[in-house]
Amino acid sequence: MSKELAGKIALVTGGNSGIGLETARGLAARGAKVTIAARDRAKGQVAVEDVQKSTGNADVELLVLDLADLASVRSAAATFRASHAQLHILVNNAGLVLSEKRLTKDVFEATFGTNHLGHFLFTYELLSLLKASAPARIVNLSSDAHRQSKGLDFADLMRERKAYSTIEAYADSKLANVLFTLELSRRLEGSGVTAYAVHPGVVATGFARDGDTAGWMEWLIRLGSPFLLTPAKGALTSLYCATAPELATVSGRYYAKSREKEPTKYGKDAAAAQKLWEVSEKLVGIAA
Ligand SMILES: NC(=O)c1ccc[n+]([C@@H]2O[C@H](COP(=O)([O-])OP(=O)(O)OC[C@H]3O[C@@H](n4cnc5c(N)ncnc54)[C@H](OP(=O)(O)O)[C@@H]3O)[C@@H](O)[C@H]2O)c1
Repeated sequence: MSKELAGKIALVTGGNSGIGLETARGLAARGAKVTIAARDRAKGQVAVEDVQKSTGNADVELLVLDLADLASVRSAAATFRASHAQLHILVNNAGLVLSEKRLTKDVFEATFGTNHLGHFLFTYELLSLLKASAPARIVNLSSDAHRQSKGLDFADLMRERKAYSTIEAYADSKLANVLFTLELSRRLEGSGVTAYAVHPGVVATGFARDGDTAGWMEWLIRLGSPFLLTPAKGALTSLYCATAPELATVSGRYYAKSREKEPTKYGKDAAAAQKLWEVSEKLVGIAA
């Protein structure tokens, strides 16, 4: 274990598998105290022990967090705040793609509800802690799939008026991650808290294989498997954004292969980013 991140406190959502697990491992290997947030306690506990053993860092713990349930999001953030005086690195990594339309506990379309709204509220609830810990960083896992989005349809964010499309729902949720990053950077200017959106590459993880998707999409993923990155390589851009000294004063940008990359014009739309924040506040019930 190195001492590069000694004294730093990090939290990774969806840290029990895939890119999130390797991100948590990478942070723990650099000496950070790491919280793995997972929706399933048993899976999360296995990940905690795995990271502790492989890194020799005992400072790894579990936080139960279901991003598809706002009560769970609020309670997980409160639990974390109650037991930690600081948070230096928040990696909003969890995500899903759904072949059929589903709803979250709070009756949001589940892709947008989990990938964006859950992380929006979780981050919001941890903002004071991040600011008090500055310099601090927020890393949001997006995807080059955001390029398939033609902008958010604010009149129908829950897809009640259109036929459900897996790709469109996922692409919109990943565009929301880019816009959230942009608006975070605007709102956090001068606070010492910076935000980054990440495309991890195309990575061989459990993503889209656990019953959330079926049929042609699973087939496509299996077909591409020999060309996919390992989860450890898929975690490199998240780790770069979480730690690189040269990014200390940069915020609101999009990264792939540990380099800045242009998002689409929809991902640079500052008015849409501001609107998404305001609409998200209302949806999750944050008082103005
Ligand atoms: N794999 C790729 O090629 C790729 C490409 C571009 C972007 N990404 C992004 O990378 C991120 C990580 O994906 P991955 O490839 O590592 O997939 P993964 O192995 O399926 O990991 C996804 C993680 O998200 C968690 N999660 C799903 N729904 C949740 C909820 N309601 N509450 C809390 N956690 C939840 C999963 O928990 P469970 O284990 O309990 O299901 C899992 O830990 C995602 O945001 C994805 O959009 C991946």
